[in-house]
Amino acid sequence: MATHGKKQDNRSPADWWLFVLGFVLFAAVGFWATPAILYAEKPQPFQFSHKLHMEQVGEGCQSCHAFREDGSYTGIPSLEKCKECHGEEPMGETPEEKVFSKDYVAKNKPIPWQVYSKQPPCVFFSHAAHVANAGLECASCHGDHGDTEKLRTYEYNRLTGYSRDIWGWSLIPLDGPPKRMKMDDCAKCHRDNGVRDACFVCHK
Ligand code: HEC
Ligand code: HEC
Ligand code: HEC
Ligand code: HEC
Ligand code: HEC
Repeated sequence: MATHGKKQDNRSPADWWLFVLGFVLFAAVGFWATPAILYAEKPQPFQFSHKLHMEQVGEGCQSCHAFREDGSYTGIPSLEKCKECHGEEPMGETPEEKVFSKDYVAKNKPIPWQVYSKQPPCVFFSHAAHVANAGLECASCHGDHGDTEKLRTYEYNRLTGYSRDIWGWSLIPLDGPPKRMKMDDCAKCHRDNGVRDACFVCHK
């Protein structure tokens, strides 16, 4: 009995510090190292400022992201749209515009943008249903992208190849932008709004 008690009394504070250190190390591995191993980066072709361009165009977002006659969505505008204002010579001094003018406008080469919200091919998504019919704000799914001055780094999951935006940026599902667009997230809003949520609605 006495030995037992003594043993406990003698536990050195160093043991506790080791425990705390180990715990912190594991937490660090979980929060920083795992994402670093799981996700790879792809650069955008060059920077693009939504803020600057919203001041240049007349009709807001739909100047560049519009619905076609048949209800389908144009998505990211083609080079033709940019050429309404941009020629082979840059208008300004920025290195970004130089890359854009020389490598894309002058060569008439489509810009290979990385799409943050890109869904796997098995998923059917239509902007007409959500924007034209349901009247949802762009920001309710895309966060503040339309208001940004810089493009953030595009990251994708090395195992699935899917954009990091699908599964979310945080281990704890915090609801701040950039928004998650996982199956659960789509289904939750559908349930809240009484939309059909059979498998075939989103998987064609
Ligand atoms: C001058 C044309 C132009 C205008 C006006 C414009 N956009 Fe864009 N938008 C782009 C281009 C180019 C891209 C591709 C680069 C990028 O990701 O930002 C893009 C990409 C996006 C994306 C990214 C989709 C993804 O997941 O990668 C969203 C969301 C978006 N725009 C929303 C908006 C909103 C909201 C507005 C209005 C506030 C707007 N845009 C106005 C040209 C425009
Ligand atoms: C309504 C006219 C207009 C359209 C359409 C337009 N731009 Fe611009 N863009 C401008 C103006 C004006 C500037 C500012 C020029 C300067 O001083 O650099 C600019 C600047 C830029 C810059 C340099 C700014 C920076 O952040 O360094 C890039 C890159 C660019 N535009 C790309 C594009 C692309 C890509 C498209 C097509 C999706 C496009 N623009 C469509 C008017 C336009
Ligand atoms: C209900 C959620 C939701 C709303 C609201 C929404 N989007 Fe999207 N958006 C998505 C999803 C999901 C994708 C990816 C679709 C895919 O990969 O099939 C996407 C893709 C895009 C793209 C890239 C398309 C491409 O070329 O691949 C652009 C640009 C875009 N959205 C702009 C907008 C704009 C502008 C608005 C507002 C007018 C808007 N979105 C409203 C969910 C939404
Ligand atoms: C913020 C809420 C919201 C989110 C997030 C959302 N949806 Fe929807 N969705 C709706 C609403 C509301 C409708 C009904 C629109 C209408 O009235 O036609 C709808 C309709 C649809 C339809 C057409 C359904 C039909 O019966 O024809 C499809 C397909 C769909 N959503 C797929 C998706 C996918 C895939 C995602 C995730 C990437 C998603 N939605 C995310 C609100 C949402
Ligand atoms: C509201 C829209 C929606 C509904 C309803 C829905 N899904 Fe999904 N599903 C998605 C989206 C978006 C993804 C891609 C993102 C992800 O992996 O979470 C996905 C991914 C999947 C995947 C993984 C595919 C892959 O390549 O990674 C499977 C399997 C799947 N769904 C099966 C189902 C089944 C079975 C049902 C019916 C019980 C169903 N889904 C209903 C939207 C939906």
